[in-house]
Amino acid sequence: MTVKNGRKWFSESRYGLFIHFGLYSVAGRHEWVQTLEEISVEGYKKYFDHFNPDLLNPKEWAQNAKDDGFKYVIITAKHHDGFCLWDTKETSYNVMNSPYQRDLLGELIEEFRKVGIKIGIYYSLLDWYQPDFLVDGYHPMRNNKEYIDKNPGDMKNYRQFLTNQVKEILTNYGTIDYLWFDFSYKSRDWGTSVGKGAADWGSVELEKMIYEIQPNIFINDRLDLNRGVLTPEQFARNNAMENEEDVWETVQTLNNSWGYDRDNLNFKTSEMVAKQLVDTVSKGGNFTMNIGPNARGEWDSTSDEILETVGEWLRKHGDSIYGATLSKFKAPLDCRYTQKGNKLFLHIFSWPYRTILLPELGGKISFARLLNDGSEIRFTDTKNLGGDRKATTNLYKEITEVHVKEALDPSMLMLNIPVRRPNELIPVIELTLKEG
Ligand code: GLC
Repeated sequence: MTVKNGRKWFSESRYGLFIHFGLYSVAGRHEWVQTLEEISVEGYKKYFDHFNPDLLNPKEWAQNAKDDGFKYVIITAKHHDGFCLWDTKETSYNVMNSPYQRDLLGELIEEFRKVGIKIGIYYSLLDWYQPDFLVDGYHPMRNNKEYIDKNPGDMKNYRQFLTNQVKEILTNYGTIDYLWFDFSYKSRDWGTSVGKGAADWGSVELEKMIYEIQPNIFINDRLDLNRGVLTPEQFARNNAMENEEDVWETVQTLNNSWGYDRDNLNFKTSEMVAKQLVDTVSKGGNFTMNIGPNARGEWDSTSDEILETVGEWLRKHGDSIYGATLSKFKAPLDCRYTQKGNKLFLHIFSWPYRTILLPELGGKISFARLLNDGSEIRFTDTKNLGGDRKATTNLYKEITEVHVKEALDPSMLMLNIPVRRPNELIPVIELTLKEG
């Protein structure tokens, strides 16, 4: 998918927040808990009966997200368990009938919009609550013959239901910038059942309807139509897309679970998150990080702290992320480049001693500085010095002969960096490219 006019915001945003919140947050052990433990609708009802996130403050979530540097949000309106976070007329299995009794999705959309964050809605194509949804190998009732006999499923009805729901969301909540469907699995074959794809969801008609209601919306790639924003999940791409116009976003968790998972302490460090973000932008993609708030509607302190620390890094280094993209220059070892116009940003993942040699940049840089404090980084540009070893050595006495020898390759530029690594998650040096 390529970026059309009016949709540039997506690629410029670069950093998005995924929010997984629903009944599974009450179970507190992964958003797939219903099917992992093969829980029936009746067995799952206790989470519905106790869904009352009394400490949830939509304003605070929005402000946190803004302070943490996120530019767009993707909120789970309905996850695979079928519970709806909005006031839907299509099913009573929604937030208004839970003890919470508030249109949570509506409130969140409003508050996030107020702080200038773009709105993405996650909608699960799978639905383990609706009896019309044909039982397959992912379904919690896959081994329950009685349920299967009683509920033969009718995907035609289900298609209508999901179309109506999507229409509802796109009609009742103003501009939705991004619609995030999850997911198609046509190639799955469990023997007694098979996976689902475009024909089951009615993807072609669905997509058509979506663009009719909101022509500028982005849609992800999980409708099984071979188009849309590509969403590689939980892994890093090795390279940029072959077609640089392709829009992609990698979605990631903090601890491997999307929904709140109390006993899972497998958290990434802030440094790892920041590095993933940088690495993604250096390959021309967007990075979307997830939070799974707890049953009372709060962000757990570990997640909160990680995101805050990354946000603090972004406060000083956002220039190298927002609106930036891959660079045609090849970064030195342990570094990543991003570029925005004539600014080239060197992200240093591992701080070396004193010098960094930048291939291809000889004669091309007019100024270099650290982003965190704006201080100048001096450099030896052998091209400008005409490859004169003596002049170079005299200019920077502290640089050893060996380095100079290497730097004398006129295609190289040598940065003269401080011995002490700036105390930042990832130090960044901004290089201003000469005009032309
Ligand atoms: C997956 C999972 C799901 C999660 C999603 C986010 O496909 O089914 O639980 O919501 O990825 O990308």
